[in-house]
Amino acid sequence: MPEAVRARFVTLEGGEGVGKSTQLKALAAALRARGLDLVETREPGGSPGAEAIRSLLLHDHHWTPEAEALLFAAARADHVATTIRPALERGAWVLCDRFVDSSIAYQGGAGGLGFEAVRALHGFGSHGFLPDRTLLLKLPEGEAERRASGRDTGGADLIGGRDASYHRNVVDAFDRLAKDEPERFRVIDASGAAEEVTARLLAALEDLL
Ligand code: TYD
Repeated sequence: MPEAVRARFVTLEGGEGVGKSTQLKALAAALRARGLDLVETREPGGSPGAEAIRSLLLHDHHWTPEAEALLFAAARADHVATTIRPALERGAWVLCDRFVDSSIAYQGGAGGLGFEAVRALHGFGSHGFLPDRTLLLKLPEGEAERRASGRDTGGADLIGGRDASYHRNVVDAFDRLAKDEPERFRVIDASGAAEEVTARLLAALEDLL
């Protein structure tokens, strides 16, 4: 373990169908190959309590927009306290599939609650804890929908299954977030071969390594 490298909290974000899960695995492997102790995790979920909330959110029930945002924030509070912070404190890197920016884009932007309302919940639930770097995967317009429609959507969850205009609003909200915080965000072109995308992700972490 190279001593000079401080533990970092990195999140991967994006709308539906951008290849995030595949890239998360590939990026984790590439970072481990560099000798990093790395914890892979995801939201909603990533701790026993948050995984219990995940099934309430994605499969069980239609919540009001406010209740939905509160449940995501509650899951995140548990995840930060019991998984993310302890890992960082022992010196491990944490790579997380989605985090608060998903709540801001989905519940705040597409869901209509507003960015600030969701940030306030995060302030209360997780003391406003933010990633060191957020990698936003982005495809040219129309490409994500084409990929998503080619997939078997039998397992689509309650949020992934929302209509196209909801998901366009999610993508627009992510764009705004990335523009507002250029230090933390890196927008990564998710088109082309998977290995090329992974190389772009890794390059966007180079200054932290
Ligand atoms: P998941 O199966 O993890 O989907 P994906 O592969 O797209 O990441 O399901 C998570 C779903 O929940 C996804 O549609 C995005 C949504 N979501 C929110 O609406 N708000 C949030 O804060 C998070 C973390 C996820």
